Amino acid sequence: MDFTTSLFVLSTIFLLLLILKQTKLISSKSIKNLPPGPPKLPIIGNLHQIGDKPHVSTASMARKYGPLISLRFGQQLVVVASTPEAAIGILKTQDRLLSSRVVPTAFQQPELLPHSLIWSECNSTWKSLRTLCRTEMFSAKALEAQSKLREQKLGNLLTFLHKTQGRVINIQDAVFTTLFNTLSSIIFGKDLIDYEDEHGARDELKESLYSIIEYGGRIKDVGSFFPMLEGFDLHGIRKGTMKEFDKAFSYWDDIIEERRAQVNSSTWSSDQAQSFLDRMLEKRFTNNQINQVVTELFVAGTNTTTSTVMWAMSEFVRHKEVMSKLEEEVKREFNSDTITSSQLSKLTYLQACIKENFRLHPSVPLLLPHKAAETCEVMNYTIPKNTKIFVNVWAMGRDPNLWDDPLSFNPERFIDSKLDYKGQDFELLPFGSGRRICPGLPSGIKTIESLLVSLIREFEWALPNGDDPSKLDMNDKFGIALRREKPLKLIFKEKIV
Ligand code: HEM
Repeated sequence: MDFTTSLFVLSTIFLLLLILKQTKLISSKSIKNLPPGPPKLPIIGNLHQIGDKPHVSTASMARKYGPLISLRFGQQLVVVASTPEAAIGILKTQDRLLSSRVVPTAFQQPELLPHSLIWSECNSTWKSLRTLCRTEMFSAKALEAQSKLREQKLGNLLTFLHKTQGRVINIQDAVFTTLFNTLSSIIFGKDLIDYEDEHGARDELKESLYSIIEYGGRIKDVGSFFPMLEGFDLHGIRKGTMKEFDKAFSYWDDIIEERRAQVNSSTWSSDQAQSFLDRMLEKRFTNNQINQVVTELFVAGTNTTTSTVMWAMSEFVRHKEVMSKLEEEVKREFNSDTITSSQLSKLTYLQACIKENFRLHPSVPLLLPHKAAETCEVMNYTIPKNTKIFVNVWAMGRDPNLWDDPLSFNPERFIDSKLDYKGQDFELLPFGSGRRICPGLPSGIKTIESLLVSLIREFEWALPNGDDPSKLDMNDKFGIALRREKPLKLIFKEKIV
């Protein structure tokens, strides 16, 4: 054994002993009255039982151990809630104490974290950023102002689709581009990516954001299970994410600087402000602050919405009778080219389909990880300070105690139901609930509704090669957003009206 190998072996043994000691120390503190859970192995705890689909593995543990279970991922204590009662305990009764965040390794970037909306504790930065987003991006007034823009972007999508008619397309790419440009127009006042830009600069931006999302969604990240190893960035996650952040930032630094000059000029008046960027510049945000907030909005806003539309289109193609009813409804209610909010609100069958789709395919199946800021009690169990908390909304959507025939796609179940996804009905929580509820809910829903209406109204959709729709592969892949494992490839033809 040469010197380097010996050194490596010795340091590995030393680290393992240290971890073992620390793990023992933690468990020997014998926290009383934790929620039940499967037996834990030394050092790794329950990590070996989680697999690539934590929403599925923890749902199956909940069936055995109950609505609130405790696990250990290395040194990190984890609690998972899987029923509406347990979700109420976390997101309502103890909302104040359990709304802190555990920051994934990818986003532990000292220069960026202080400006984060998603990963901050519920502190004053978080409060002011949420208020800014609520008033400038998601208020009824802001949504109304964005409706023209939304329509333009849908028009671009339809033009692209009309051009590609007859070809098999990966519909996900086209939908992602539309959603991305809708958001970039709201934020920056311009489109940032193209439908066909193979390997151009804009394509690189798309790739960087995909990579950030991929890094952020990694679940097997040793550093986050053993805080003492955090500094080592063993899988290069922090470094890799920062590289992608830098690429994205350099892309929009130019846009920010150009606009900053205009906003700072003596001729600027507030009624010239057109975009979210203008509002941030008026409030004297630095480039670092803007870059961080903007990246988070893109990461949180585009993938969730794209994957929701993809699951919905998959279900519609699989269920011909659902698609026919939707087509009838859309034809009945829309007799002009524009799509207005009041028309959308009349589409009761579409609303039912969207709820049913959220029930079976919530795009953030475990919500984002919450953290206990203080020790407290939920369902008479102790949740110690710093516990990482997940709410398995995917499991709730498929629970036979809550839904008849839970695995079938049946929008009719929502037709005469008052159940909604806005955070008050705890059996259906695709956006979460309480103080961390998704602030983008109103915008996300508007986008999903108008996109689906456009796709259904203009085209007839089918699987390529006459494939049997009932055999469409519906496997999912866990990440920041729960997406289809295999991309949805469809063919389509224009409708003859
Ligand atoms: C189908 C669409 C969407 C779904 C299903 C969704 C779902 C969620 C969920 C489950 C959370 C975490 C809640 C929690 O931790 O308890 C969240 C947080 C968040 N979402 Fe969304 N979201 C969607 C669209 C959007 C859009 C369009 C935006 C913005 C453009 C957005 C911005 C955010 C932000 C900033 C947070 C973090 C809030 C905080 O930590 O205080 N989301 N979203």
